[in-house]
Amino acid sequence: DKGQYRHYMQKEIFEQPVAIMNTLDGRIKDGRVNIDAIAPNAAEILSKVEHVQIVACGTSYNAGMVARYWFEAIAGVSCDVEIASEFRYRKFVTRPNSLLITLSQSGETADTLAALRLAKESGYMSAMTICNVASSSLVRESDFAFMTRAGVEIGVASTKAFTTQLTCMLLLNAAIGRLKGNLTDEQEHHIIQSLQRLPAQIESALVFDKQIEKLSEDFAEKHHTLFLGRGEYYPIAMESALKLKEISYIHAEAYAAGELKHGPLALIDSEMPVVVVAPENDLLEKVKSNIEEVRARGGQLYVFADSDAGFTDADNFKTIVLPKVDEVTAPIFYTVPLQLLSYHIALIKGTDVDQPRNLAKAVTVE
Ligand code: F6R
Repeated sequence: DKGQYRHYMQKEIFEQPVAIMNTLDGRIKDGRVNIDAIAPNAAEILSKVEHVQIVACGTSYNAGMVARYWFEAIAGVSCDVEIASEFRYRKFVTRPNSLLITLSQSGETADTLAALRLAKESGYMSAMTICNVASSSLVRESDFAFMTRAGVEIGVASTKAFTTQLTCMLLLNAAIGRLKGNLTDEQEHHIIQSLQRLPAQIESALVFDKQIEKLSEDFAEKHHTLFLGRGEYYPIAMESALKLKEISYIHAEAYAAGELKHGPLALIDSEMPVVVVAPENDLLEKVKSNIEEVRARGGQLYVFADSDAGFTDADNFKTIVLPKVDEVTAPIFYTVPLQLLSYHIALIKGTDVDQPRNLAKAVTVE
């Protein structure tokens, strides 16, 4: 039942504060991650992990791409991420003590399931799934499952599954970081506190709905959109581009902002909206130079930032200035206004938001 909402996608976007609260429930104890709540034997396996291989498709793959930054920065273990349909059809080398993690909303994605089955024969130390459906094949066939608890997701375009996958990933990183001695107690407390603050912060992002709806009018007549970000915001840009293309049918591409000069700058003109995710952090000055590269060529800029980033509206330059949030959870936070942007663009275009053409919710055939 959609209740007060026009579409399931809209409902699911607005459910994210509660979904994340449910994901955290019981998984935090005394300001630290409750490792036993991940799985009864998780601590033993996670303390041995030396490498993580993530395999997934679509939006779940984008969540894996964000998590890669966290595994190397927080947990202190090397991490690779691969699209399941590629992983399953190439020869790969299994690293010692490597943990395979499949990410999936449905738990039934054919390529991801095939990748899991292959990995189980290929010397992985253990296979974990981060999944939203308890009765699914991935949960049944994995050594252990860390459930996202997003609740049923009906909209074909994945929203709350993505943000709860990222929530699970931060908990997992805190666990591995502690078990491997790569994270201080203070650092772990900080991650946990940031996660506990996140639901209320996402509520505060949802308040920008009307402002984002206004912004979306600029996109409805466009044929292409470019999304830019650096660091964890590069995969957030990828996810935003995927959302826009699947529900509005506007061609959208994401680039790591530092790649502009290596090709995509040639696309920039007044017909190319460029969305930039630019919160205040160590990379902001670099992102600002990229913004200047676009501005100098007459590109239309739409910058999603926080109050500390110091952006204001100008000609061909519109901003959504969000509240400042903790850096560790900020990629999850920024996902939400960008989901709303795609949603409102699709509404203007009059597409079937919950059931985009040619797509299925669970891709059970390859
Ligand atoms: C995008 C989308 C798809 C899925 C992909 C993987 O909004 O919904 O890209 O993310 O088909 O599905 P799961 O996560 O069920 O394995």
